[in-house]
Amino acid sequence: MPLFYQHNINESTKLAIWHITEGEDFFLYRVPMKRDVSHALKRLQHLAGRFLLTELFSDFPLEEILIADTRKPYLVDEKYHFSISHFGHFAAAIVSRSNRVGVDIEKAGPVIEKISNKFLSLHESAIALENIEKSGHRLQQLTLLWSAKESIFKWYSLGNVNFKEHIRWKEPYFIHSGTMGEMCFEFRKDGSIPLSVYFKIFDDLVLTFVYT
Ligand SMILES: CC(C)(COP(=O)(O)OP(=O)(O)OC[C@H]1O[C@@H](n2cnc3c(N)ncnc32)[C@H](O)[C@@H]1OP(=O)(O)O)[C@@H](O)C(=O)NCCC(=O)NCCS
Repeated sequence: MPLFYQHNINESTKLAIWHITEGEDFFLYRVPMKRDVSHALKRLQHLAGRFLLTELFSDFPLEEILIADTRKPYLVDEKYHFSISHFGHFAAAIVSRSNRVGVDIEKAGPVIEKISNKFLSLHESAIALENIEKSGHRLQQLTLLWSAKESIFKWYSLGNVNFKEHIRWKEPYFIHSGTMGEMCFEFRKDGSIPLSVYFKIFDDLVLTFVYT
């Protein structure tokens, strides 16, 4: 079942995860491959991400996608705002007619723990440790924080973001239901913007997204 998860946030904003089990031909039937990507899995991820855009909104104009200097893909007329992420054989996309968006998908793993001092302030690490002591899910919690900051980075889209300085985690997690929840951040790049990052956890796979 390739469509692994879909969440229609509201009438104008939708999100989905695709489990990549198909070969390239399946995607190439619908997706123009404009970039030269030599690594086979990366090519599949790239194709699946764009394919998902048209699964969410069938009139999504894939051929009009441009790539900014920051490497963010975008549409000139902003008919849709969108963001894409991949991890292994999973691709995630969020598309909105009205809101700026960011999405990230990650697998919990020890690499994120190794770099945690690069993306978490001392204060954030202390709160995270408290949570970890209560829940015990060390890698999952750190992955959630990393992924949330990556989603915000993509939502902002202009680059030059210092994860420790400009993206500050403000509160512990709110669990909405089961494995879904919300985290509060402050984005301090151009002034101060409060931001909610929503998340969903699928075993060791973590999905985060922003829409404002
Ligand atoms: C751009 C970045 C967010 C991509 O993340 P990643 O984990 O490598 O890859 P993901 O699969 O999650 O996302 C890739 C997609 O992001 C999108 N993307 C690339 N650059 C982007 C940007 N500047 N803004 C928004 N989206 C971007 C693209 O759609 C890309 O997929 P595509 O090439 O198939 O279209 C990441 O490389 C990056 O630069 N992160 C910031 C790192 C940083 O500053 N760290 C400092 C603290 S340690």
